[in-house]
Amino acid sequence: MTRSDIGLIGLGVMGQNLALNMADHGHRVVVYNRTPATTDAYLAGPARGLPIGGASTLEELVSALDTPRRIVLMVTAGPPVDAVIAGLTPLLEPGDVIVDGGNSHFRDTERRVGDLEAQGLLFVGAGISGGEEGARHGPSIMPGGSPAAWPLVREFLQGIAAKVDDGTPCCDWIGPGGSGHYVKMVHNGIEYGDIQLLAEGYHLMRAGVGMDPDDMADVFARWNEGRLESYLVEITAAVLRLRQDGAPLLEKILDAAAQKGTGRWTVESGLGLGIPVTLVAEAVFSRAVSAMKTARVAASAVLAGPNPAIAGDPGTVLADLEEALYASKIVSYAQGFMLLAAASAEHDWDLDLGAIALMWREGCIIRAAFLDRIRDAFADDPDLANLLLAPHFAEAMAAGQPGWRQTIARAVGAGLPVPAYSAALGFYDAYRAARLPANLIQALRDYFGAHTYQRVDRAGGEHFHTDWAGDGREHPAPPQH
Ligand code: 6PG
Repeated sequence: MTRSDIGLIGLGVMGQNLALNMADHGHRVVVYNRTPATTDAYLAGPARGLPIGGASTLEELVSALDTPRRIVLMVTAGPPVDAVIAGLTPLLEPGDVIVDGGNSHFRDTERRVGDLEAQGLLFVGAGISGGEEGARHGPSIMPGGSPAAWPLVREFLQGIAAKVDDGTPCCDWIGPGGSGHYVKMVHNGIEYGDIQLLAEGYHLMRAGVGMDPDDMADVFARWNEGRLESYLVEITAAVLRLRQDGAPLLEKILDAAAQKGTGRWTVESGLGLGIPVTLVAEAVFSRAVSAMKTARVAASAVLAGPNPAIAGDPGTVLADLEEALYASKIVSYAQGFMLLAAASAEHDWDLDLGAIALMWREGCIIRAAFLDRIRDAFADDPDLANLLLAPHFAEAMAAGQPGWRQTIARAVGAGLPVPAYSAALGFYDAYRAARLPANLIQALRDYFGAHTYQRVDRAGGEHFHTDWAGDGREHPAPPQH
């Protein structure tokens, strides 16, 4: 058999397309799938005539590869990844590299990097985004793990990745441990927020303004020509336009959203690190509410609400909605980058936030023109404390807030749920508040649980406790547990 330079395990659609993409870039690929019939059909079909060979066992795959071996796993995240690794490791030699291209949890990747390095092997957790089309023609790739693996996989991963206009690949070394999969997880969380904002905007147009799908498609298509230019806005217009048997397909799709978990993981990580990724949280919970279809239908007959029609000039309503969408999107990305910064500090990953914005510029699901602005913001000020404070974004929020507030007020008046827009504005108003009512929270905690508080008129770090229901005086803080 001709020797191959890349091995690929797992011939789902992503794996199949990724192998074709590798072949396009001059690689000789050997593929393996647990069900041999899939491999046979692939070799006789899409891979016919290409430098892609098949292996019917892991042994065959391993022996077909040049050393150090490079093997990409495109298998379902979770136990299947561990099962494949367990099958492979006895066959490999020190210095060989395994790249996991699935949506693995970053803690699993962290563990696998350690386990494999202990055996002299190298492991890379590479988040890959872009769906089937991206895998075929250039995804965004976020690799992290064993640093010694990067020189061995760099050229090949950057070769198959999407490129920005100047040719820079949307793939660069993210950092050690599980950092690559962490960044992909945050990408997906942001994807949840973006999709939720688009869905809420669609609902306002449809139920509030009473627009038909073609008119809504025109609005999204117009937005896609401006600062909101992005893949998700573009395909929202396409989705609205599609008709089957003369009727818009979208109207026939059950309004119950599914999810595979990466949005929830993002929120869980935010909760652990104390970072308010509130749009992702609202997006995850909104999917959960949507899935309660039977309960919602029953409740709709019982629970009262106002007339959903939004009064006023539709042109103004839509212009305000565009402002609200842009401003909320900025908040969502600011929250995502806050989470990345916190995780970087927590795990010592030294993440380059500007480089991550560039990696998301093309190829991935959240690709958008405004990621250029984010990259520029971090390039202009590498110590930027928060994206919202970058001049472009601070000005956009200042200019957009009347329309943003009006949009939420209209939705609330019409009884149409806009949790993501509201969460974004709530965060914006809290983050820009020099004083918040947390003094009352502290007082209540100290009243019922002697949890202590600090004072604005005393040195920081000093803790006080008052006997609120007794003598009303401050006493030494009791020991805290
Ligand atoms: C990507 C996508 C991909 C997946 C979504 C769907 O970046 O290419 O994010 O990873 O299709 O994560 O996730 P849900 O099923 O949870 O919506």
